[in-house]
Amino acid sequence: MKKFVVIAAATLGMSLSASLHAESGDPERGKELSTPCIACHQADGNSVNPAWPKTAGKDAGYLFKQLMDYKSGERSHPLMNPQVARLDEQDMRDLAAYFSMQETAPGRTSADEETLALGEQVYFGGNVSDGVAACVACHGPGGKGNPAAVFPKLAAQHGAYNLDQLNQFSSGQRHNDPGRMMRTIASRMSEEEMKAVSEYIATLDPK
Ligand code: HEC
Ligand code: HEC
Repeated sequence: MKKFVVIAAATLGMSLSASLHAESGDPERGKELSTPCIACHQADGNSVNPAWPKTAGKDAGYLFKQLMDYKSGERSHPLMNPQVARLDEQDMRDLAAYFSMQETAPGRTSADEETLALGEQVYFGGNVSDGVAACVACHGPGGKGNPAAVFPKLAAQHGAYNLDQLNQFSSGQRHNDPGRMMRTIASRMSEEEMKAVSEYIATLDPK
């Protein structure tokens, strides 16, 4: 009886780890599939054009969700929707696993001190009078996000891309945020606050 339990546990353990692997994706296969992505996101996942996001080092669960959302049309963008058209769910898991293992390169900004100070204030304190929730609550003190809750890492992301996303949430063009979390926040922000916090995020240490 004891022996049976041990064997059953071992078999269960094996099948669990096999399904966990499938669940988390195969980065080797993801690398092979990433050739068409390099043109915009670069081989190391750190896009050069600040309007295109760095995908390197983001949590796999978040990346996978984005790819699925582009595929279903929950999130739409003329450059990204065609990219996922031929990908199936496993392809997207594998690509997400690969990008998540790449290292996020440090960010850059040309914003002045005053703008960055406002950005820091918004990031840590929100804007109480306008009901803007502090970013730190979900994206974490260093902008590292919260993988378990699928709150994305933001640290070192390009300021121009951040600002574009905040504008897209504010207008509703991007509407794949569960519970309208980001749409609610962004729609209450001033253009000045959006710009400032977008640049501040670019300065956060990605490590
Ligand atoms: C022609 C340029 C281009 C190519 C090629 C491209 N992307 Fe993108 N990608 C973008 C742009 C632009 C965005 C942001 C679009 C938006 O605002 O929703 C983006 C967004 C993403 C995001 C969401 C990032 C985030 O932080 O939310 C992921 C994930 C992604 N791309 C993965 C891929 C993968 C995987 C491929 C290859 C199969 C690929 N991209 C090919 C331009 C491109
Ligand atoms: C209640 C939690 C919460 C708070 C507070 C919050 N966010 Fe978010 N944010 C999210 C979630 C969840 C997403 C991803 C939605 C999705 O699944 O696509 C997100 C996405 C983003 C993105 C897009 C990331 C990408 O790679 O495309 C940016 C930029 C962003 N948030 C900035 C901010 C800023 C700036 C603040 C503060 C003013 C803030 N967030 C406050 C939950 C939050």
